[in-house]
Amino acid sequence: MTSVESTSVQPTTIAYLDPSLPVAERVADLLARMTREEKVGQMMQLDARDGVEELVLGRHVGSILHTSPQRVLQAHDLTDRTRLRIPLLIGEDCIHGHSFFEGATIYPTQLGMAATWSPDLVEKMARATAVEVSATGIHWTFSPVLCIARDLRWGRVNETFGEDPHLIGELATAAVRGYQGDGLTDPTAILATAKHFAGYSETQGGRDASEADISRRKLRSWFLPPFERVARAGCRTFMLGYQTTDGVPITVNDWLLTDVLRGEWGYTGTLITDWDNVGRMVWEQKVQPDYAHAAAAAVKAGNDMVMTTPGFYQGALDAIDAGLIVESDLDAAVSRILTLKFELGLFEDRRRPDPARIAAVIGSHQDLNLEITRRSLVLLENDGLLPLDPAPKKVVVIGPLADDAQEQLGDWAGNSGQAGWLPDGHPRAMITTVLDGLRDHSPAGWEVTYARGADIVTLEQDPEGTHFPDGQPRPPVQVPCAPDPALLTEAVDAATAADVAVVVVGDVIPLVGEGRSTATLNLFGAQNALIDAVAATGTPYVIVLQASKPLVLPESAASASAIIWAANPGMTGGQAIAELLHGTIEPAGRLPISFARHVGQQPTYYNQLRGQHGHRYADLTQDPAYPFGHGLSYTTIEYTDLVIETPDVTATDTITASVTLTNTGDRPALETVQVYVSDLVTSASWAERELKTFRQVHLDPGHQATVNLELPASACTIVNAAGERIVEPGTFELQVGPSSRANDLLRAPFTIA
Ligand code: NOJ
Repeated sequence: MTSVESTSVQPTTIAYLDPSLPVAERVADLLARMTREEKVGQMMQLDARDGVEELVLGRHVGSILHTSPQRVLQAHDLTDRTRLRIPLLIGEDCIHGHSFFEGATIYPTQLGMAATWSPDLVEKMARATAVEVSATGIHWTFSPVLCIARDLRWGRVNETFGEDPHLIGELATAAVRGYQGDGLTDPTAILATAKHFAGYSETQGGRDASEADISRRKLRSWFLPPFERVARAGCRTFMLGYQTTDGVPITVNDWLLTDVLRGEWGYTGTLITDWDNVGRMVWEQKVQPDYAHAAAAAVKAGNDMVMTTPGFYQGALDAIDAGLIVESDLDAAVSRILTLKFELGLFEDRRRPDPARIAAVIGSHQDLNLEITRRSLVLLENDGLLPLDPAPKKVVVIGPLADDAQEQLGDWAGNSGQAGWLPDGHPRAMITTVLDGLRDHSPAGWEVTYARGADIVTLEQDPEGTHFPDGQPRPPVQVPCAPDPALLTEAVDAATAADVAVVVVGDVIPLVGEGRSTATLNLFGAQNALIDAVAATGTPYVIVLQASKPLVLPESAASASAIIWAANPGMTGGQAIAELLHGTIEPAGRLPISFARHVGQQPTYYNQLRGQHGHRYADLTQDPAYPFGHGLSYTTIEYTDLVIETPDVTATDTITASVTLTNTGDRPALETVQVYVSDLVTSASWAERELKTFRQVHLDPGHQATVNLELPASACTIVNAAGERIVEPGTFELQVGPSSRANDLLRAPFTIA
């Protein structure tokens, strides 16, 4: 490894430093000046948590990630000492807000935001996040996730927009627009990343990075469409998943990377691997004998940037020496990376952290955050207890998550584990827990008490030892906490003495995230015992499920008066939940993902293929507990008169229809009108219905509205057995209603000629 720290080039005499020249010319000029070591380094993104000096000066890296605010400054200074002074791209997982910047606005998780069914709010979130992120010297966020949530046991369900390709496509496109702003010359723009390309979420048993057993037709049917949308909408970077498919690691899947992404979709952006994908082909998947072969294979497959494979440096150089690749094989990748840097204007302005902007914008979007969180809460059940009657009462807030500020933020935030520089998480004062919310937002005269009631998990040393054979530390083992009689008694006494109890249960970081899938969907630790005990008091109670993903509640929860799913609701969660309980806001969230009754029902997504025998297991229904699209209001909305104005169309026409909505209750509502299409006979097996569009409509009590619906007939496609997405002429059904549940939908036929 050579350290290149020598006399720098003189700006005005050098073409690549001349901003008046076209980007392509500057790229070509710079590329011609680079040594092969500099080219290999340019393709690397390394982890900055252990320091940056060696990465920049020793390995000439093109990019770093997980860089603390101090190291961002240091890293830029170091590039000024390199021979060509090529600026760094600094990437970070700004997943639901600027995750690891102290005091930044942290929104609900992506799954929580998906429950708003609002591309507009997601775009605003992404724009606001970009404003915060760009001020801190970060150029690139690894967001949004376009994986389709399938098996709920998977630890990363919270990072997705849920289970439906259309909803994912709408929300992801909005997120990309928001992050990338008016284009890369906009100083508040950051690069968006569509990840994880493609099929990573098709796990086996929910296990992370298991082989994705998935055909090309299935990819084209469900997994690829959201990615195609953002590719065509100008998302500048794509990140791979971890999985192999049909024996081939995604990192070298020529068909997906070359034929589909760059070929069919014409994607010209940058492709980054996931964490150590190149190394994993050697030490984990064992499909490459050494780093030279792995590096050569990754280069040949069209990867531009290699994330956190330190061995890629020597591996790629060895591959050139061994003739596995030639130096010019690196040029396409290096050019794409340099193009991004030129287009961001980094050669002229590194976009260093700006203290004045930081002071002005970090954490400044809590109003937007609150608006999103309010819209994200899903009322799953309500026997009429909610909204709470305002007459003074005693409410007890119970549960291990009732007042746990950091856990409320969820994965990829503060001290969730990926960044080491925020050991205490985000400032407590910026976060309202449910206990805070009820204390601060209950009507005058209300008394609010609190009992933790239960613990969830303790971490113990893995009995297999402290380290893996390769020297890596073994993560601890999650051990469920047993019910604690003293905590339970305290909770039972408090519930007995109260008029109403709010029980906040769910999951916590050790049970969520990458490599942390769960075998069951049950509440962990002593939480079921807590619900059993509160239920037995007879005091009316509400369950607030603060869970990263759909979980299964114990049987005793059937006696809960109401159940709210809050996902991980972010910093303003407690206020929004208190407002919902008291009815100062209306419930408007709709499930972007189905809830199972039992883990054994997996998978429970709504758009399953036709042809199974019956709809029941011998011992349980196949129906989910709550289907995709479900969510109650504090009023009732009646759907009538679905009329198709264009019952016979061709594939180039637009289907226009209308439906009448009547608010038959005494509260206003924001109703999400969901429009599904059923293709009645298809040449290859297909889903019974698919979401094709949706509209959100405000309805005051007693009011009626005719909602006009429009759908291009070209959207009524299937993927045939040959793998082609086509409209098959024939009879279809438009199905319109408040959820994907068959009984909730009005139906009207139409034909496409
Ligand atoms: C691995 C994760 O799979 C990916 O989503 C993330 O962006 C990278 N690590 C970087 O942290």
